[in-house]
Amino acid sequence: MNALQPYYKTIEGMKEKGLYTPIRVLESPQGPWFTIDGKKLLNFCSNNYLGFAQDKRIAAAAIKAIKKYGVGAGAVRPISGNLTLHMEAEKALAKLKGAEAAFLLPGGFIANIVAIATIVGKEDIVISDELNHASIIDAIKLAQVKTKFIYKHNDMGELETRLKEAVSVAKTPKSDGTKPIILVVSDGVFSMDGDIANLPEIVRLAKKYNAITMVDDAHGEGVLGEGRGIAAHFGLQGKLDIEVGTMSKAFGVLGGVIAGKKELIEYYRQKGRPYLFSTGLTVADAAAVIEGVKILTKSKALVKKLWDNAAYLKKGFQKMGFNTGVTETPITPVMLGDENLAKEFSARLFTRGVFATPIKFPMVALGKARIRVMPSSVHTKKDLDYGLNAFKEVGKELKVI
Ligand SMILES: Cc1ncc(COP(=O)(O)O)c(C=O)c1O
Repeated sequence: MNALQPYYKTIEGMKEKGLYTPIRVLESPQGPWFTIDGKKLLNFCSNNYLGFAQDKRIAAAAIKAIKKYGVGAGAVRPISGNLTLHMEAEKALAKLKGAEAAFLLPGGFIANIVAIATIVGKEDIVISDELNHASIIDAIKLAQVKTKFIYKHNDMGELETRLKEAVSVAKTPKSDGTKPIILVVSDGVFSMDGDIANLPEIVRLAKKYNAITMVDDAHGEGVLGEGRGIAAHFGLQGKLDIEVGTMSKAFGVLGGVIAGKKELIEYYRQKGRPYLFSTGLTVADAAAVIEGVKILTKSKALVKKLWDNAAYLKKGFQKMGFNTGVTETPITPVMLGDENLAKEFSARLFTRGVFATPIKFPMVALGKARIRVMPSSVHTKKDLDYGLNAFKEVGKELKVI
């Protein structure tokens, strides 16, 4: 038997349990409506919060940059691929976030790997929220941290208990004689539920116990703090040690960012392996980031429209009797529980012209399947009504409401 055979069997098992994810192909741009299998569908599940993925101003800026620079950086940035566009984009992002410096990487996943695995090693200590993003979990694994504490989601009482334990562990110096770092890491906005980390309390506790703070603001940039992100939302600019973000959500392109003090960013630039050994952003991505920051800085209209749409949608779902969980942001989960129910719900939405994929294990815990609806500022009220109506019909058919 081929050694890979068990993997293929796993796929069959996943199909039986409703855990298999068929991946659809988009035949049109990624907008409020798009085409799949020749069918026009309302897009209810992208992270394109502000419509930047098709914004004409951003596309024009990317085209202009391509005409000047070509398409790619051609090398890792520390060798010969560091473009003025990269530097400009970093400056713009630092300013937007109110940080001393920022550092662009090829993706948010990679940014979390760099942010954690570059400064934390086997003998350091990490304290992490149980619902943190997979990239944070993998970064901690990669760092081979022996002492890690996972605290109950957003439970500040448990965080304090863990900090006390960490302080006690940290009394033993590392083999090189230095003191272990204690890193507290949390998503800013939790991507599957839409709730927000209690960042002011995390910062207060971390300070009390001399720990380092890190937040992943992937779903906060362009959304919270009038588009400036979670630090601005809580008035914590300059108070967080490490802010990670992504250009793949509200910014509509590709890229990851780490923001913080100049010295920290300098350290990452010299030591971050995925930066040293992986090519920098493409010309189009870097130019799009610069233009995106410009748009966000000039007007808050798109951010306001996003929140208005989100409020309209949530009210609509709740009025019909759907459970939208604990969200505090535009992320709007329609909680269904059973994996097969979520799959069937999504399939019936599809036949009614609404595209909203089921979110299920391993993206969320088993038995906590849902359809995560993502409104954007480019949806019209008519679009939202269309989607709400489809949910109502399917919800009744499947006896969810
Ligand atoms: C909270 C969070 N962090 C990081 C990432 C990874 O970002 P990227 O898609 O840029 O790799 C995501 C995207 O799924 C995310 O939701």
